[in-house]
Amino acid sequence: MTPPVIEARGLVQKYESGRSLLKPGRVVRAVDGIDLAVRPGEVLGVVGESGSGKSTLGRMLLGLESPAAGKVLFDGAAMPAPRTDEWRRLRARMQLIYQDPLAALDRRMTIADQIGEPLRIHRIAEGPELHERVAALMARVGLRPDQADRYPHELSGGQRQRVVIARALATGPKFLVCDEPVSALDVSIQAQVVNLLRDLQEQEGLTMVFISHDLKVVRNICDRVAVMYLGRVVEEAPSDQIFTDPRHPYTRALVSSVPKAGQGLAGRIILQGEPPNPAARPDGCAFHPRCPLADAACAREVPALERHRGRLTACLKQRPVAQTAA
Ligand SMILES: Nc1ncnc2c1ncn2[C@@H]1O[C@H](COP(=O)(O)OP(=O)(O)OP(=O)(O)O)[C@@H](O)[C@H]1O
Ligand SMILES: [Mg+2]
Repeated sequence: MTPPVIEARGLVQKYESGRSLLKPGRVVRAVDGIDLAVRPGEVLGVVGESGSGKSTLGRMLLGLESPAAGKVLFDGAAMPAPRTDEWRRLRARMQLIYQDPLAALDRRMTIADQIGEPLRIHRIAEGPELHERVAALMARVGLRPDQADRYPHELSGGQRQRVVIARALATGPKFLVCDEPVSALDVSIQAQVVNLLRDLQEQEGLTMVFISHDLKVVRNICDRVAVMYLGRVVEEAPSDQIFTDPRHPYTRALVSSVPKAGQGLAGRIILQGEPPNPAARPDGCAFHPRCPLADAACAREVPALERHRGRLTACLKQRPVAQTAA
């Protein structure tokens, strides 16, 4: 099998929050031991409630921050430390597209200059060639030539995100992390931008990690999905299986919240209890206080992500009965 483009091994990230002069901060384990691999040309979706660690995972996969433990491999080699020369060279091959295009763009630079900037920085093109490349990138993401001399605030949200995408593609990246790339956009144009990302991914054979709250979007664009809960992956499977036959009780609840054609929200599972709080992680399975299946063992034992009955889940209840009783 072809080796993965990106691989996470035992990734952990901790942050200290609430620290002041008078009291020490609390350590939050934003990512709590993640193993995953994305094969060339594959799109891996990452879903889970707010605060589950999705963005933190994405930043570590790009080497934007160093993990507290574990490591990231890009093309089989260890990720260099952030902001070293080696890391900067590698950055041309990995790009981030996130929620807020206005924050990603420079208000004082024209669209054409921003799309051309990575080409200049990495000395890929200059002069008339630069001009041509920028025009081609603009056309590929559906921007009009007359928009080249505009500034970000003169464009719509969807157009700005197209500029961000063109800029991300300029250096011919191999790996892209899209972190909620359409959630700040008007619902009516979200589908257009998702379709653009999907077309570009297919044409370029890009490897992608696609983080989103919107399960319908994830189903539309992702080959495989990892479901996160409090810093861990609780289920991972091909998209179809996640949506038609979810196994982890948390995945079942998430999937049940997507309206189905003709049925609406019939069968929706409403989760009880508090939303996840990484500063107060429950013992045992972090999901157990909200889980309809939980028993005493779930409050004691942290389940590993394991293959049971052909599926990868981190749930004691998915184990064959003989194993659970042991
Ligand atoms: N730089 C930071 N300093 C302190 N805590 C942080 C930092 N970044 C993230 N956290 C905390 O880590 C946890 C995970 O955050 P993260 O942004 O990765 O979640 P997320 O799944 O992307 O959430 P959302 O869906 O809201 O974007 C949260 O509790 C968050 O408050
Ligand atoms: Mg996030």
